[in-house]
Amino acid sequence: MTDPRYGGIAVLDFGSQYTQLIARRVREQNVYAEVFPFDADPAKVNAHEPRGYILSGGPSSVYEPGAPQLAHWMLKRNQETHTPILGVCYGMQALTHALGGIVSPSQAREFGPAQIQQTQYSPLLHGLPGQMNVWMSHGDRIEQPPSGFLPLAESDNSPHAAMGDLTRGLYGVQFHPEVVHTPQGAEILHNFIFGICGCEANWSPASFIEDALAAIRAQVGDEKVLLGLSGGVDSAVAGALIHRAISDQLTAIFVNTGLLRLNEPEDVVRVFQDEQGMNLIAVDATENFLEGLQGKTEPEQKRKLIGKLFIDTFAESARHLQGVKFLAQGTIYPDVIESAANSKSAHVIKSHHNVGGLPDDLQFKLVEPLRDLFKDEVRKVGTALGLPDHIVWRQPFPGPGLAVRCLGDITWERLETLRQADAIFTEELDKAGLLMRGTAQAFAVLLPVKSVGVMGDQRTYEEVIALRAVTTDDFMTADWARLPYDLLAKVSNRIVNEVRRVNRVTYDITSKPPGTIEWE
Ligand code: XMP
Repeated sequence: MTDPRYGGIAVLDFGSQYTQLIARRVREQNVYAEVFPFDADPAKVNAHEPRGYILSGGPSSVYEPGAPQLAHWMLKRNQETHTPILGVCYGMQALTHALGGIVSPSQAREFGPAQIQQTQYSPLLHGLPGQMNVWMSHGDRIEQPPSGFLPLAESDNSPHAAMGDLTRGLYGVQFHPEVVHTPQGAEILHNFIFGICGCEANWSPASFIEDALAAIRAQVGDEKVLLGLSGGVDSAVAGALIHRAISDQLTAIFVNTGLLRLNEPEDVVRVFQDEQGMNLIAVDATENFLEGLQGKTEPEQKRKLIGKLFIDTFAESARHLQGVKFLAQGTIYPDVIESAANSKSAHVIKSHHNVGGLPDDLQFKLVEPLRDLFKDEVRKVGTALGLPDHIVWRQPFPGPGLAVRCLGDITWERLETLRQADAIFTEELDKAGLLMRGTAQAFAVLLPVKSVGVMGDQRTYEEVIALRAVTTDDFMTADWARLPYDLLAKVSNRIVNEVRRVNRVTYDITSKPPGTIEWE
Protein backbone atom coordinates (compact mmCIF):
# COMPACT_ATOMS: atom_id res chain seq x y z
CA MET A 1 0.00 0.00 0.00
CA THR A 2 1.34 3.43 -0.86
CA ASP A 3 1.84 6.05 1.82
CA PRO A 4 -1.55 7.84 2.04
CA ARG A 5 0.20 11.13 2.72
CA TYR A 6 1.23 11.31 -0.94
CA GLY A 7 -0.94 13.05 -3.51
CA GLY A 8 -2.85 15.25 -1.06
CA ILE A 9 -3.12 18.99 -0.57
CA ALA A 10 -0.53 21.45 0.73
CA VAL A 11 -2.02 24.37 2.66
CA LEU A 12 0.11 27.52 2.72
CA ASP A 13 -0.40 29.61 5.85
CA PHE A 14 -0.62 33.37 5.41
CA GLY A 15 -1.55 33.93 9.06
CA SER A 16 -5.28 33.16 9.18
CA GLN A 17 -6.85 31.85 12.34
CA TYR A 18 -8.59 29.31 10.08
CA THR A 19 -5.54 27.77 8.41
CA GLN A 20 -5.65 24.57 10.44
CA LEU A 21 -9.35 24.35 9.77
CA ILE A 22 -8.67 24.23 6.01
CA ALA A 23 -6.41 21.21 6.50
CA ARG A 24 -8.96 19.53 8.76
CA ARG A 25 -11.75 20.08 6.25
CA VAL A 26 -9.65 18.49 3.51
CA ARG A 27 -8.80 15.53 5.72
CA GLU A 28 -12.47 15.08 6.58
CA GLN A 29 -12.84 14.17 2.91
CA ASN A 30 -10.20 11.47 3.39
CA VAL A 31 -7.45 13.36 1.60
CA TYR A 32 -4.22 14.14 3.41
CA ALA A 33 -3.45 17.84 3.91
CA GLU A 34 -0.36 19.44 5.39
CA VAL A 35 0.13 23.03 6.57
CA PHE A 36 3.28 25.03 5.72
CA PRO A 37 4.33 28.61 6.38
CA PHE A 38 3.72 30.69 3.21
CA ASP A 39 7.47 30.99 2.64
CA ALA A 40 8.39 27.37 3.40
CA ASP A 41 11.13 25.62 1.48
CA PRO A 42 9.48 24.19 -1.68
CA ALA A 43 11.31 20.89 -1.16
CA LYS A 44 9.41 20.48 2.11
CA VAL A 45 6.07 21.59 0.71
CA ASN A 46 6.41 19.17 -2.20
CA ALA A 47 7.93 16.25 -0.29
CA HIS A 48 4.65 14.33 -0.40
CA GLU A 49 3.91 15.40 -3.97
CA PRO A 50 0.71 17.33 -3.34
CA ARG A 51 -1.82 17.43 -6.17
CA GLY A 52 -3.01 20.90 -5.20
CA TYR A 53 -2.23 23.96 -3.10
CA ILE A 54 -4.62 25.97 -0.95
CA LEU A 55 -3.53 29.45 0.13
CA SER A 56 -5.03 30.47 3.47
CA GLY A 57 -6.45 33.81 4.52
CA GLY A 58 -4.44 36.25 6.56
CA PRO A 59 -4.60 39.60 8.33
CA SER A 60 -2.27 41.61 6.04
CA SER A 61 -2.87 43.80 3.00
CA VAL A 62 -1.04 42.31 0.07
CA TYR A 63 0.04 45.71 -1.35
CA GLU A 64 1.69 46.87 1.87
CA PRO A 65 5.44 46.64 2.29
CA GLY A 66 6.51 43.44 4.02
CA ALA A 67 3.17 41.68 3.44
CA PRO A 68 3.52 37.92 2.88
CA GLN A 69 3.63 37.12 -0.83
CA LEU A 70 2.95 34.07 -2.92
CA ALA A 71 6.18 32.19 -3.63
CA HIS A 72 7.13 32.27 -7.31
CA TRP A 73 8.09 28.62 -7.38
CA MET A 74 4.43 27.72 -6.96
CA LEU A 75 3.33 29.57 -10.08
CA LYS A 76 6.21 27.97 -11.95
CA ARG A 77 5.14 24.57 -10.73
CA ASN A 78 1.59 25.29 -11.78
CA GLN A 79 2.89 26.14 -15.26
CA GLU A 80 5.06 23.06 -15.50
CA THR A 81 2.92 20.41 -13.83
CA HIS A 82 -0.52 22.04 -13.93
CA THR A 83 -0.84 21.64 -10.12
CA PRO A 84 -3.99 23.66 -9.26
CA ILE A 85 -4.03 26.48 -6.70
CA LEU A 86 -7.00 27.75 -4.67
CA GLY A 87 -6.59 31.06 -2.86
CA VAL A 88 -8.91 31.74 0.07
CA CYS A 89 -9.49 35.41 1.02
CA TYR A 90 -5.98 36.80 1.52
CA GLY A 91 -4.73 33.77 -0.44
CA MET A 92 -6.84 34.92 -3.39
CA GLN A 93 -5.43 38.42 -3.07
CA ALA A 94 -1.86 37.10 -2.91
CA LEU A 95 -2.52 35.07 -6.04
CA THR A 96 -3.98 38.13 -7.78
CA HIS A 97 -1.05 40.33 -6.75
CA ALA A 98 1.52 37.76 -7.88
CA LEU A 99 -0.14 37.45 -11.31
CA GLY A 100 -0.39 41.20 -11.97
CA GLY A 101 -4.01 41.83 -10.96
CA ILE A 102 -5.02 44.68 -8.66
CA VAL A 103 -6.04 44.40 -5.00
CA SER A 104 -7.26 47.49 -3.17
CA PRO A 105 -9.06 48.48 0.02
CA SER A 106 -12.77 47.83 -0.18
CA GLN A 107 -15.18 50.76 0.38
CA ALA A 108 -17.44 48.52 2.38
CA ARG A 109 -15.67 45.89 4.39
CA GLU A 110 -17.46 42.58 4.67
CA PHE A 111 -17.41 40.70 7.97
CA GLY A 112 -19.88 37.92 8.64
CA PRO A 113 -22.63 36.35 6.53
CA ALA A 114 -23.04 37.37 2.91
CA GLN A 115 -24.78 36.05 -0.16
CA ILE A 116 -23.07 35.23 -3.43
CA GLN A 117 -24.52 34.62 -6.90
CA GLN A 118 -22.82 32.41 -9.43
CA THR A 119 -22.16 34.36 -12.61
CA GLN A 120 -20.50 31.67 -14.68
CA TYR A 121 -20.26 27.88 -14.67
CA SER A 122 -17.04 26.55 -13.13
CA PRO A 123 -15.75 23.20 -11.87
CA LEU A 124 -15.21 24.90 -8.49
CA LEU A 125 -18.89 25.67 -7.94
CA HIS A 126 -20.12 22.72 -9.99
CA GLY A 127 -23.45 21.31 -8.81
CA LEU A 128 -24.05 24.10 -6.30
CA PRO A 129 -27.02 26.48 -6.14
CA GLY A 130 -26.91 29.77 -8.04
CA GLN A 131 -27.23 31.66 -4.75
CA MET A 132 -25.36 30.66 -1.65
CA ASN A 133 -24.73 31.95 1.85
CA VAL A 134 -21.08 32.32 2.69
CA TRP A 135 -18.88 33.74 5.45
CA MET A 136 -16.78 36.76 4.56
CA SER A 137 -14.09 38.47 6.57
CA HIS A 138 -12.11 40.93 4.50
CA GLY A 139 -11.21 44.60 4.16
CA ASP A 140 -9.50 44.37 0.75
CA ARG A 141 -10.97 43.15 -2.49
CA ILE A 142 -9.99 42.25 -6.04
CA GLU A 143 -10.24 45.39 -8.17
CA GLN A 144 -8.99 43.74 -11.31
CA PRO A 145 -8.34 40.01 -11.65
CA PRO A 146 -5.17 38.87 -13.39
CA SER A 147 -5.51 38.25 -17.12
CA GLY A 148 -7.09 34.94 -17.97
CA PHE A 149 -9.36 34.99 -14.88
CA LEU A 150 -13.16 35.04 -15.08
CA PRO A 151 -15.50 36.18 -12.34
CA LEU A 152 -17.36 33.06 -11.14
CA ALA A 153 -19.52 34.59 -8.42
CA GLU A 154 -20.31 38.02 -7.02
CA SER A 155 -21.64 39.48 -3.79
CA ASP A 156 -22.99 42.98 -3.08
CA ASN A 157 -19.54 44.21 -2.14
CA SER A 158 -17.30 41.86 -4.08
CA PRO A 159 -17.65 41.68 -7.86
CA HIS A 160 -15.11 38.87 -7.63
CA ALA A 161 -16.39 36.82 -4.73
CA ALA A 162 -15.05 33.83 -6.66
CA MET A 163 -12.86 33.82 -9.75
CA GLY A 164 -10.88 31.36 -11.76
CA ASP A 165 -8.60 30.71 -14.67
CA LEU A 166 -10.08 27.39 -15.67
CA THR A 167 -7.35 26.56 -18.17
CA ARG A 168 -4.51 26.95 -15.71
CA GLY A 169 -6.44 25.50 -12.72
CA LEU A 170 -6.10 28.69 -10.68
CA TYR A 171 -8.99 29.71 -8.42
CA GLY A 172 -9.76 32.23 -5.72
CA VAL A 173 -12.64 32.74 -3.32
CA GLN A 174 -13.08 35.88 -1.25
CA PHE A 175 -15.13 34.01 1.36
CA HIS A 176 -14.11 31.20 3.74
CA PRO A 177 -15.26 27.75 2.56
CA GLU A 178 -13.57 26.13 5.60
CA VAL A 179 -15.90 27.59 8.25
CA VAL A 180 -19.25 26.06 9.15
CA HIS A 181 -20.99 29.36 8.41
CA THR A 182 -20.41 28.66 4.72
CA PRO A 183 -22.91 25.79 4.41
CA GLN A 184 -21.68 24.67 0.97
CA GLY A 185 -18.01 25.06 1.97
CA ALA A 186 -17.33 21.34 2.16
CA GLU A 187 -18.77 20.83 -1.34
CA ILE A 188 -16.65 23.65 -2.75
CA LEU A 189 -13.53 22.08 -1.22
CA HIS A 190 -14.71 18.69 -2.50
CA ASN A 191 -14.93 20.10 -6.04
CA PHE A 192 -11.43 21.52 -5.74
CA ILE A 193 -9.81 18.45 -4.16
CA PHE A 194 -11.38 15.79 -6.36
CA GLY A 195 -12.79 17.49 -9.45
CA ILE A 196 -9.96 19.94 -10.05
CA CYS A 197 -6.90 18.35 -8.38
CA GLY A 198 -7.83 14.70 -8.95
CA CYS A 199 -6.92 13.59 -5.42
CA GLU A 200 -7.90 10.14 -4.22
CA ALA A 201 -9.77 9.56 -0.97
CA ASN A 202 -7.20 7.30 0.66
CA TRP A 203 -6.54 8.99 4.00
CA SER A 204 -8.31 7.12 6.81
CA PRO A 205 -7.52 5.93 10.35
CA ALA A 206 -6.94 2.42 9.02
CA SER A 207 -4.49 3.55 6.33
CA PHE A 208 -2.73 5.76 8.88
CA ILE A 209 -2.40 2.92 11.39
CA GLU A 210 -0.95 0.50 8.87
CA ASP A 211 1.60 3.04 7.79
CA ALA A 212 2.41 4.21 11.31
CA LEU A 213 3.06 0.66 12.56
CA ALA A 214 5.63 0.13 9.81
CA ALA A 215 7.23 3.52 10.49
CA ILE A 216 7.54 2.85 14.23
CA ARG A 217 9.10 -0.56 13.63
CA ALA A 218 11.52 0.93 11.11
CA GLN A 219 12.48 3.74 13.48
CA VAL A 220 13.08 1.76 16.66
CA GLY A 221 14.19 -1.65 15.36
CA ASP A 222 14.89 -3.89 18.38
CA GLU A 223 15.40 -1.01 20.78
CA LYS A 224 13.34 -0.22 23.86
CA VAL A 225 10.91 2.68 24.05
CA LEU A 226 9.71 4.58 27.10
CA LEU A 227 6.39 6.42 27.26
CA GLY A 228 5.02 8.87 29.82
CA LEU A 229 1.37 7.96 30.07
CA SER A 230 -0.76 10.77 31.48
CA GLY A 231 -4.17 9.24 30.90
CA GLY A 232 -4.92 11.99 28.37
CA VAL A 233 -6.02 11.14 24.84
CA ASP A 234 -2.76 11.84 23.02
CA SER A 235 -0.38 9.81 25.16
CA ALA A 236 -2.97 7.04 25.41
CA VAL A 237 -3.35 6.71 21.64
CA ALA A 238 0.41 7.06 21.05
CA GLY A 239 0.93 4.30 23.63
CA ALA A 240 -1.67 1.97 22.12
CA LEU A 241 -0.21 2.46 18.65
CA ILE A 242 3.39 1.88 19.69
CA HIS A 243 2.34 -1.09 21.77
CA ARG A 244 0.66 -2.61 18.77
CA ALA A 245 3.83 -2.05 16.72
CA ILE A 246 6.47 -3.33 19.14
CA SER A 247 4.56 -4.83 22.11
CA ASP A 248 6.98 -5.60 24.96
CA GLN A 249 9.71 -3.29 23.72
CA LEU A 250 7.50 -0.51 25.12
CA THR A 251 7.38 0.42 28.80
CA ALA A 252 5.02 3.11 30.04
CA ILE A 253 5.44 5.10 33.22
CA PHE A 254 2.32 6.55 34.81
CA VAL A 255 2.76 9.00 37.67
CA ASN A 256 -0.14 9.42 40.04
CA THR A 257 0.38 12.96 41.28
CA GLY A 258 -2.65 12.86 43.55
CA LEU A 259 -4.00 15.69 41.40
CA LEU A 260 -6.08 13.53 39.07
CA ARG A 261 -9.83 13.21 38.80
CA LEU A 262 -11.96 10.65 40.63
CA ASN A 263 -10.98 7.05 39.74
CA GLU A 264 -8.55 8.23 37.05
CA PRO A 265 -5.41 6.44 38.31
CA GLU A 266 -7.28 3.14 38.72
CA ASP A 267 -8.76 3.56 35.28
CA VAL A 268 -5.39 4.07 33.58
CA VAL A 269 -3.94 0.95 35.20
CA ARG A 270 -6.99 -1.14 34.34
CA VAL A 271 -7.13 -0.09 30.68
CA PHE A 272 -3.43 -0.11 29.83
CA GLN A 273 -2.05 -2.84 32.04
CA ASP A 274 -5.00 -5.20 32.34
CA GLU A 275 -6.84 -4.70 29.06
CA GLN A 276 -4.09 -3.65 26.64
CA GLY A 277 -1.42 -5.79 28.29
CA MET A 278 1.17 -3.00 28.31
CA ASN A 279 4.30 -3.01 30.51
CA LEU A 280 3.18 -0.29 32.90
CA ILE A 281 5.02 1.15 35.85
CA ALA A 282 2.50 3.02 38.00
CA VAL A 283 4.18 5.31 40.50
CA ASP A 284 2.12 6.68 43.36
CA ALA A 285 3.79 10.00 44.14
CA THR A 286 0.77 11.55 45.86
CA GLU A 287 2.53 12.12 49.17
CA ASN A 288 5.51 13.80 47.53
CA PHE A 289 3.32 16.15 45.56
CA LEU A 290 1.14 17.05 48.54
CA GLU A 291 4.13 17.66 50.71
CA GLY A 292 5.76 19.88 48.08
CA LEU A 293 2.57 21.85 47.53
CA GLN A 294 1.95 22.51 51.19
CA GLY A 295 1.40 26.23 51.78
CA LYS A 296 1.83 27.09 48.08
CA THR A 297 -1.10 29.09 46.74
CA GLU A 298 0.39 31.20 43.94
CA PRO A 299 -0.59 29.62 40.56
CA GLU A 300 2.75 29.95 38.79
CA GLN A 301 4.60 28.66 41.81
CA LYS A 302 2.28 25.65 41.90
CA ARG A 303 2.79 24.97 38.19
CA LYS A 304 6.57 25.18 38.36
CA LEU A 305 6.77 22.95 41.38
CA ILE A 306 4.46 20.33 39.85
CA GLY A 307 6.53 20.36 36.64
CA LYS A 308 9.71 19.80 38.59
CA LEU A 309 8.26 17.10 40.84
CA PHE A 310 6.90 15.35 37.79
CA ILE A 311 10.26 15.31 36.02
CA ASP A 312 12.04 14.12 39.17
CA THR A 313 9.57 11.29 39.67
CA PHE A 314 9.57 10.28 36.02
CA ALA A 315 13.37 10.43 35.78
CA GLU A 316 13.85 8.33 38.87
CA SER A 317 11.63 5.56 37.49
CA ALA A 318 13.24 5.82 34.06
CA ARG A 319 16.71 5.40 35.54
CA HIS A 320 15.78 1.93 36.77
CA LEU A 321 15.12 0.80 33.22
CA GLN A 322 18.09 -0.50 31.31
CA GLY A 323 18.99 0.24 27.71
CA VAL A 324 16.11 2.49 26.69
CA LYS A 325 16.97 4.51 23.57
CA PHE A 326 13.65 6.13 22.66
CA LEU A 327 11.10 8.30 24.39
CA ALA A 328 7.58 8.29 22.96
CA GLN A 329 5.52 11.48 23.02
CA GLY A 330 1.92 12.24 22.11
CA THR A 331 2.84 15.32 20.06
CA ILE A 332 0.03 16.06 17.61
CA TYR A 333 -0.15 18.10 14.43
CA PRO A 334 -1.35 21.43 15.91
CA ASP A 335 1.74 21.34 18.19
CA VAL A 336 3.95 20.80 15.16
CA ILE A 337 2.32 23.58 13.14
CA GLU A 338 2.62 25.98 16.06
CA SER A 339 6.26 25.18 16.56
CA ALA A 340 6.96 25.71 12.85
CA ALA A 341 5.04 28.99 12.90
CA ASN A 342 7.04 30.15 15.90
CA SER A 343 10.22 28.90 14.21
CA LYS A 344 11.09 26.98 17.30
CA SER A 345 12.80 23.60 17.20
CA ALA A 346 11.13 20.96 15.09
CA HIS A 347 10.35 18.83 18.11
CA VAL A 348 7.90 20.59 20.31
CA ILE A 349 7.79 19.37 23.84
CA LYS A 350 4.36 19.50 25.37
CA SER A 351 4.21 21.96 28.19
CA HIS A 352 2.25 19.64 30.38
CA HIS A 353 4.34 16.91 31.97
CA ASN A 354 7.23 18.55 30.22
CA VAL A 355 9.31 15.39 29.82
CA GLY A 356 11.55 17.28 27.40
CA GLY A 357 13.24 18.75 30.42
CA LEU A 358 14.75 15.46 31.48
CA PRO A 359 18.22 15.60 33.05
CA ASP A 360 21.35 15.16 30.93
CA ASP A 361 21.95 11.54 31.89
CA LEU A 362 18.53 10.67 30.46
CA GLN A 363 18.50 11.74 26.84
CA PHE A 364 16.45 9.86 24.30
CA LYS A 365 15.57 9.97 20.65
CA LEU A 366 11.91 10.89 20.21
CA VAL A 367 9.16 8.70 18.78
CA GLU A 368 6.13 10.80 17.89
CA PRO A 369 3.72 8.67 15.89
CA LEU A 370 0.84 11.19 16.04
CA ARG A 371 2.80 14.14 14.67
CA ASP A 372 0.66 14.23 11.52
CA LEU A 373 -2.77 13.98 13.17
CA PHE A 374 -5.38 16.44 14.31
CA LYS A 375 -7.17 15.75 17.59
CA ASP A 376 -10.30 14.37 15.93
CA GLU A 377 -8.11 11.99 13.91
CA VAL A 378 -6.23 10.93 17.06
CA ARG A 379 -9.59 9.98 18.54
CA LYS A 380 -10.57 7.97 15.47
CA VAL A 381 -7.25 6.12 15.57
CA GLY A 382 -7.74 5.46 19.30
CA THR A 383 -11.14 3.94 18.64
CA ALA A 384 -9.77 1.86 15.75
CA LEU A 385 -7.08 0.57 18.12
CA GLY A 386 -9.74 -0.60 20.56
CA LEU A 387 -9.38 2.03 23.29
CA PRO A 388 -12.59 2.57 25.27
CA ASP A 389 -14.71 5.69 24.73
CA HIS A 390 -14.03 7.09 28.17
CA ILE A 391 -10.34 7.34 27.28
CA VAL A 392 -10.75 8.38 23.66
CA TRP A 393 -13.36 11.02 24.48
CA ARG A 394 -11.70 12.21 27.64
CA GLN A 395 -11.96 15.94 28.20
CA PRO A 396 -8.88 18.11 27.93
CA PHE A 397 -7.20 18.18 31.32
CA PRO A 398 -4.34 20.50 32.27
CA GLY A 399 -0.94 18.95 32.99
CA PRO A 400 -0.81 20.32 36.55
CA GLY A 401 -4.16 18.60 37.06
CA LEU A 402 -6.55 19.60 39.82
CA ALA A 403 -3.92 21.95 41.26
CA VAL A 404 -5.13 24.43 38.63
CA ARG A 405 -8.72 24.02 39.86
CA CYS A 406 -8.09 23.87 43.59
CA LEU A 407 -7.57 27.54 44.34
CA GLY A 408 -5.79 28.41 47.55
CA ASP A 409 -4.34 25.68 49.74
CA ILE A 410 -3.95 22.25 48.22
CA THR A 411 -4.70 19.58 50.79
CA TRP A 412 -5.88 16.01 50.37
CA GLU A 413 -9.19 16.95 51.97
CA ARG A 414 -9.79 19.86 49.57
CA LEU A 415 -8.76 17.73 46.58
CA GLU A 416 -11.25 15.06 47.61
CA THR A 417 -13.99 17.69 47.90
CA LEU A 418 -13.17 18.92 44.42
CA ARG A 419 -12.97 15.41 42.95
CA GLN A 420 -16.40 14.49 44.29
CA ALA A 421 -18.05 17.69 43.10
CA ASP A 422 -16.41 17.32 39.69
CA ALA A 423 -17.55 13.70 39.39
CA ILE A 424 -21.15 14.67 40.15
CA PHE A 425 -21.10 17.43 37.52
CA THR A 426 -19.56 15.11 34.94
CA GLU A 427 -22.00 12.31 35.72
CA GLU A 428 -25.04 14.56 35.34
CA LEU A 429 -23.75 16.07 32.11
CA ASP A 430 -23.16 12.59 30.78
CA LYS A 431 -26.67 11.47 31.74
CA ALA A 432 -28.07 14.51 29.94
CA GLY A 433 -26.01 13.64 26.83
CA LEU A 434 -24.07 16.90 27.14
CA LEU A 435 -20.60 15.65 27.96
CA MET A 436 -18.31 16.40 24.99
CA ARG A 437 -21.32 17.16 22.81
CA GLY A 438 -23.08 20.24 24.21
CA THR A 439 -19.86 21.17 25.99
CA ALA A 440 -16.21 21.05 24.95
CA GLN A 441 -14.95 21.11 28.51
CA ALA A 442 -16.78 21.05 31.83
CA PHE A 443 -15.44 20.79 35.36
CA ALA A 444 -15.71 21.96 38.93
CA VAL A 445 -13.43 24.48 40.62
CA LEU A 446 -12.91 24.83 44.36
CA LEU A 447 -12.68 28.49 45.32
CA PRO A 448 -10.31 29.97 47.90
CA VAL A 449 -13.14 31.54 49.91
CA LYS A 450 -15.69 30.25 52.33
CA SER A 451 -19.23 31.53 52.52
CA VAL A 452 -21.99 31.51 55.07
CA GLY A 453 -24.96 29.23 54.61
CA VAL A 454 -27.66 27.52 56.56
CA MET A 455 -28.28 23.79 56.85
CA GLY A 456 -31.09 22.57 59.02
CA ASP A 457 -31.16 25.29 61.66
CA GLN A 458 -27.41 25.58 61.72
CA ARG A 459 -25.30 28.37 60.38
CA THR A 460 -22.56 26.93 58.18
CA TYR A 461 -19.32 28.44 56.98
CA GLU A 462 -18.05 26.23 54.20
CA GLU A 463 -16.35 25.92 50.80
CA VAL A 464 -17.71 27.20 47.47
CA ILE A 465 -17.71 25.22 44.23
CA ALA A 466 -17.81 26.99 40.87
CA LEU A 467 -19.01 25.00 37.86
CA ARG A 468 -17.41 25.81 34.52
CA ALA A 469 -18.69 24.51 31.18
CA VAL A 470 -17.69 25.95 27.83
CA THR A 471 -18.33 25.53 24.14
CA THR A 472 -15.40 26.09 21.83
CA ASP A 473 -13.79 24.80 18.65
CA ASP A 474 -10.20 25.63 19.37
CA PHE A 475 -9.94 26.56 23.09
CA MET A 476 -8.47 29.93 22.06
CA THR A 477 -11.84 31.57 22.43
CA ALA A 478 -14.79 30.04 24.25
CA ASP A 479 -18.31 30.78 25.35
CA TRP A 480 -19.99 29.57 28.52
CA ALA A 481 -22.34 26.69 27.83
CA ARG A 482 -26.04 27.51 28.13
CA LEU A 483 -26.78 24.49 30.28
CA PRO A 484 -30.43 23.82 31.13
CA TYR A 485 -31.48 25.32 34.48
CA ASP A 486 -32.90 21.99 35.62
CA LEU A 487 -29.56 20.33 35.07
CA LEU A 488 -27.73 23.05 36.99
CA ALA A 489 -30.29 22.79 39.78
CA LYS A 490 -29.78 19.05 40.03
CA VAL A 491 -26.00 19.31 40.06
CA SER A 492 -26.04 22.06 42.67
CA ASN A 493 -28.45 20.12 44.84
CA ARG A 494 -26.44 16.94 44.65
CA ILE A 495 -23.15 18.69 45.40
CA VAL A 496 -24.36 20.49 48.54
CA ASN A 497 -26.08 17.33 49.74
CA GLU A 498 -23.46 14.73 48.86
CA VAL A 499 -20.16 16.54 49.19
CA ARG A 500 -19.21 17.40 52.71
CA ARG A 501 -17.79 20.83 53.43
CA VAL A 502 -19.54 22.53 50.48
CA ASN A 503 -22.51 24.82 51.09
CA ARG A 504 -22.63 26.87 47.88
CA VAL A 505 -22.42 26.24 44.13
CA THR A 506 -22.05 28.92 41.45
CA TYR A 507 -22.01 28.78 37.66
CA ASP A 508 -19.36 30.72 35.73
CA ILE A 509 -20.96 32.79 32.94
CA THR A 510 -17.80 34.40 31.57
CA SER A 511 -16.66 33.94 28.00
CA LYS A 512 -13.00 33.71 26.91
CA PRO A 513 -11.80 36.40 26.45
CA PRO A 514 -11.90 38.13 28.83
CA GLY A 515 -11.93 35.08 31.13
CA THR A 516 -9.85 31.95 30.61
CA ILE A 517 -11.31 28.47 30.63
CA GLU A 518 -9.45 27.44 33.76
CA TRP A 519 -9.53 29.59 36.89
CA GLU A 520 -6.05 28.82 38.24
P1 XMP B 1 -7.19 28.51 29.40
O1 XMP B 1 -7.45 28.37 30.88
O2 XMP B 1 -5.85 29.13 29.12
O3 XMP B 1 -7.12 27.03 28.86
O4 XMP B 1 -8.31 29.20 28.70
C1 XMP B 1 -7.16 26.64 27.51
C2 XMP B 1 -7.11 25.13 27.44
O5 XMP B 1 -5.82 24.67 27.88
C3 XMP B 1 -5.95 23.77 28.96
N1 XMP B 1 -4.81 24.00 29.87
C4 XMP B 1 -3.71 23.25 29.88
N2 XMP B 1 -3.39 22.16 29.16
N3 XMP B 1 -1.32 22.02 30.29
C5 XMP B 1 -2.21 21.56 29.36
O6 XMP B 1 -1.92 20.57 28.71
C6 XMP B 1 -1.57 23.11 31.05
O7 XMP B 1 -0.77 23.50 31.87
C7 XMP B 1 -2.84 23.75 30.83
N4 XMP B 1 -3.43 24.85 31.38
C8 XMP B 1 -4.64 24.97 30.75
C9 XMP B 1 -7.29 24.09 29.58
O8 XMP B 1 -7.83 22.98 30.31
C10 XMP B 1 -8.10 24.44 28.36
O9 XMP B 1 -8.55 23.27 27.70
